[in-house]
Amino acid sequence: MSGPNSSYDPVEVTPLHPDEVAAMRDAALETIFRAATLDQLKEARLATTGDRAPLSLANREIGALPPQARKAAGQRIGQARAAVNAALAARRTELEAEHEARMLVEESVDVTLPYDRDPRGARHPLTTLQERIGDVFIAMGWEIAEGPEAEAEWLNFDALNLGPDHPARSMQDTIFLEPEDAGVVLRTHTSPVQARSLLSRQLPVYVVCPGRTYRTDELDATHTPVFHQVEGLAVDKGLSMAHLKGTLDTFAAAMFGDGITTRFRPSYFPFTEPSAEVDLICFVCRGLPPEVESCRTCRGEGWLEWGGCGVVNPRVLIACGVDPEEYSGFAFGMGIERTLMVRNGVADMRDMVEGDVRFTLAFGMEL
Ligand code: PHE
Repeated sequence: MSGPNSSYDPVEVTPLHPDEVAAMRDAALETIFRAATLDQLKEARLATTGDRAPLSLANREIGALPPQARKAAGQRIGQARAAVNAALAARRTELEAEHEARMLVEESVDVTLPYDRDPRGARHPLTTLQERIGDVFIAMGWEIAEGPEAEAEWLNFDALNLGPDHPARSMQDTIFLEPEDAGVVLRTHTSPVQARSLLSRQLPVYVVCPGRTYRTDELDATHTPVFHQVEGLAVDKGLSMAHLKGTLDTFAAAMFGDGITTRFRPSYFPFTEPSAEVDLICFVCRGLPPEVESCRTCRGEGWLEWGGCGVVNPRVLIACGVDPEEYSGFAFGMGIERTLMVRNGVADMRDMVEGDVRFTLAFGMEL
């Protein structure tokens, strides 16, 4: 007697037994539920749905069953795997939401923290002042002219009616470049740009030239061997000292405020005739009593020295090929350091050359 062997009961095939499948499913759900981060969930996905996951291995057993048993087993495994996939998706949504909420807290920006750990620099006030001066004249229709700092002695002196015996040519003022007989100097003023402009431009000429100049001075509170000037030159038909005065009054008002005008004091420059020193009305006390007496800006003068000017000497026009019978002109030159000292109350010129950013920053972020 042998027991019936034909009624093979698929339920008895261990991995596909409903209890086994349910246990595998529950274990998988537990693994998924325990995943506390998205990375752990990735591992859980591999462990519960990967090739070597219990439900995947069980799925492969189905083919080994007799045909009549496959459907029920397939459904069982399919449902279990569907439950696992649904749990994975749900846990993923949960963890993503948690992650996002945490990031919002952890990555929030504290706007009260100091943000600027690289201290900012500032443009040098001499540079911004030169640009402002340029703007004033461009607004009047003038042009900016330029010339080299290493200049021909002829343009720095001779063309400007500064003859070989003029004291300004002596070694005390002028820095000569080697070899000495080459006739090249570091320009002692921006006036050679007058000659350059007349030689290179069509008439009429209306130019300003801000730029660097050199003299053999020692650096102290009121002198520097490297300094800056702004030169102005207008040559046209019928220009007179009156046009010069009007131009400088406009320039003064633009630099120092409405109502600040200029006065002329007779002076001498070889390249202008007549020549004058230009003073400004003190823009602090405006020269008005009683304030003027105690004014520290003009020291009670009511006026501030600003620069030199005059009607272009016909000898300069001739040297540059311009007919003085037909054309006349005026010129002026101001120290930019001096303008900055007066305008912004800088007491010591050395502050302008030392390059300490605390000095430049005090002038703010003016562009
Ligand atoms: N070049 C003169 C100086 O350096 C200034 C000046 C310029 C005077 C133009 C008259 C006309 O002092």
